[in-house]
Order: sequence, then structure tokens, then C-alpha cells
Amino acid sequence: MKAKVSRKAHFNAAHRLYRKDWSFEENERIFGKCNNPEFHGHNYELIVSVTGEIDPETGFVIDVKVLKDLIKSEIEDAFDHKNLNVQVPEFKNLNPTAENIAMVIWNKLRPHFNAKDALEVVLYETPRNFVTYIG
Ligand code: NI
Repeated sequence: MKAKVSRKAHFNAAHRLYRKDWSFEENERIFGKCNNPEFHGHNYELIVSVTGEIDPETGFVIDVKVLKDLIKSEIEDAFDHKNLNVQVPEFKNLNPTAENIAMVIWNKLRPHFNAKDALEVVLYETPRNFVTYIG
């Protein structure tokens, strides 16, 4: 009797895709406009899902209020209206691609859930481009 419970969230953030150990030309070749040294922003849409057994007593897999509050405290408060490269410690030495942002979100949330439950993070960087991270 498993179910997947999902919660949508949103944050705006700026980033730049580049490697410090590559030349500007090499960064330009691989990351193109995303290598803009003055950064650029995205409206990120986030869907966090928890899959697990339905508790026969409550009828919940997880209380969505708990999920909502966790996303707010762990992700929105840390990322919203921030420059990811400069202001979020996890990206000091990690390129803030959609893949890596989804991974960081997953790692920040994972300890808060029941170990038996599966966690899935879907991150939309644009309405058409999105990444799924499942650990
Ligand atoms: Ni970008």
C-alpha cells in the first residue's frame, strides 16, 4: 500500500556555470552564455516527492505540512534570491548546474525522512528543461 506524495515549491536564484581550473575560452565553449561572468538568473520550480507505505492510522505517507515546512527551511530560505555560486556554501566548489542543484537539494532533505521512504527531487530550470535526482 505505497503512495507517492509530492509538494511543489519555487525559488529564484542566480548562477554562473564555469570551472575555475579551465580557461575562459574552454568555459565559453562548454557552457556558452551560462559562463557569463556577471551571472544570470532562473525561476526554479521544484517538486519533492516521498514514496512510502501509507500509515493505516493516519492515512498519510507523510504529513504534507511537514514536507512544506522542510522545503521552506532547508531549500527556499537557503536558495531563494541568492547567488548560488557566491552565497550558497554547497556551490563554492561545485558547478551549480540543474543536476548538481537537484543533488544538493536531495542531500539536504534526505536525513529528514524515514529511511524506508524513497525521495525524489525534480528541478525545473526553465519550463522545458528539468532534471530528476533520486540519489
Ligand atoms: Ni543558467
